Amino acid sequence: MNIMTFQTNEELNQIAASIVASLVQTKPNAVLGLATGSTPIGLYQELIRLNQKGYVSFKNVKSYNLDEYVGLPADHSETYRTFMNTQLFDHIDIDKNNTYVPNGNAPDLDAECQYYDEMLAAASLDMQLLGIGHNGHIAFNEPDDQLHSGTHVVQLKEETRQANARFFSSIDEVPSQAITMGVGSILKAKMIMLIVRGAEKADIVKRALQGPITTEVPASLLQTHPNVVVLLDKEAAKHLDA
Ligand code: PGA
Repeated sequence: MNIMTFQTNEELNQIAASIVASLVQTKPNAVLGLATGSTPIGLYQELIRLNQKGYVSFKNVKSYNLDEYVGLPADHSETYRTFMNTQLFDHIDIDKNNTYVPNGNAPDLDAECQYYDEMLAAASLDMQLLGIGHNGHIAFNEPDDQLHSGTHVVQLKEETRQANARFFSSIDEVPSQAITMGVGSILKAKMIMLIVRGAEKADIVKRALQGPITTEVPASLLQTHPNVVVLLDKEAAKHLDA
């Protein structure tokens, strides 16, 4: 694992964006696995800046998002499709027909999961971007005694619903289910970029990156991947051994 710690968020965002931009510059039809949440917003803003200045084009890029809530109306402000449009896609030259987010309103959720897996297998991710939950989840793969390899419907843990309640008017509005890519699909990406910010994630960063590999900390499985780059702010890195 290549672990980098940054003194400022600005530096972290710039380096993260330059890693994504160099991939897309050398492979204009790159396939990107994208993430939602507060973690990638600064990176997306930097990518928008690079795109609008003409340094990088996403015209031929395809993207696949990690997850989506089940049952939120399509026009709800907190769907991950809305997040991706407003935080990134509306501001860059990507063709939205080439951007994929699982459909949390599909009439047959199992069929939707299978369809998403088939698309992922055919597309083959060049890079997967990840954040991490306080409990060590990646995408919505929650700690458990076993993990799913492929895309599946997941029951969200109470702590995850609470962590996400800040985006809703009350916790009762936070969906209890989501569709998520599985750990197997994430680990198949040729490269993984994990970004973590903030002191409240310092403990889980230590467990994920330097603790035992266990399904109880899904992010610890990243230790088995040959090409992971981790970008941390100094608070998130504070418990790591040098
Ligand atoms: P956050 O979420 O970026 O909003 O902290 C990360 C996650 O839960 O995976």
